[in-house]
Amino acid sequence: MAITPPEQRIWWNEPVERGEIVWIIIAFVWGLVMFFMMIWWHFTGQQNLSNEAYRIDPAVFGERTDAMVEQYTVGEEAGIPVVHPPPGSDVYMLSRLWEWWPILELEKDQSYRLHLSSMDWQHGFSLQPTNINLQVHPGYDMVLTVTPDQAGEFSVVCNEFCGIGHHTMVGKIYVVEPGQVG
Ligand code: CUA
Repeated sequence: MAITPPEQRIWWNEPVERGEIVWIIIAFVWGLVMFFMMIWWHFTGQQNLSNEAYRIDPAVFGERTDAMVEQYTVGEEAGIPVVHPPPGSDVYMLSRLWEWWPILELEKDQSYRLHLSSMDWQHGFSLQPTNINLQVHPGYDMVLTVTPDQAGEFSVVCNEFCGIGHHTMVGKIYVVEPGQVG
């Protein structure tokens, strides 16, 4: 780089230096390696689940969540309903300032279509201790097909800063043995 004009008028038509060509090839090949790594790691790395996303009005998402809660509530914890929807069904968990609602109770080794969305701001769904992380946006229905393979109590923490109550935004998912309720 110079601040004076090039000495030759045709400055752009010179042969590329060998060292530069070597580095271009190395960078290009490495880019290809990293690209195929993404695909390979998706299948073998046990990373985050592949999700689908659909546009949805937050009010509609709220209605669907309410309908599930109304039909399948089996208990309550600190004012939050515990819901046990049938295996194979669509289950909903909504995020809002500052809670995950409701508490889901899922059966081990059964598959569910888990829907996540926000009623207000952006939140981060982080399932502990399994380390599954997803962004949750208002206006988008994030759908995952999940098959819990381990019974127990799992926490959902918000990992996207969402204001003064962010650190209190904790939810829960129970995984129970098939056929067990509560
Ligand atoms: Cu919701 Cu942080």
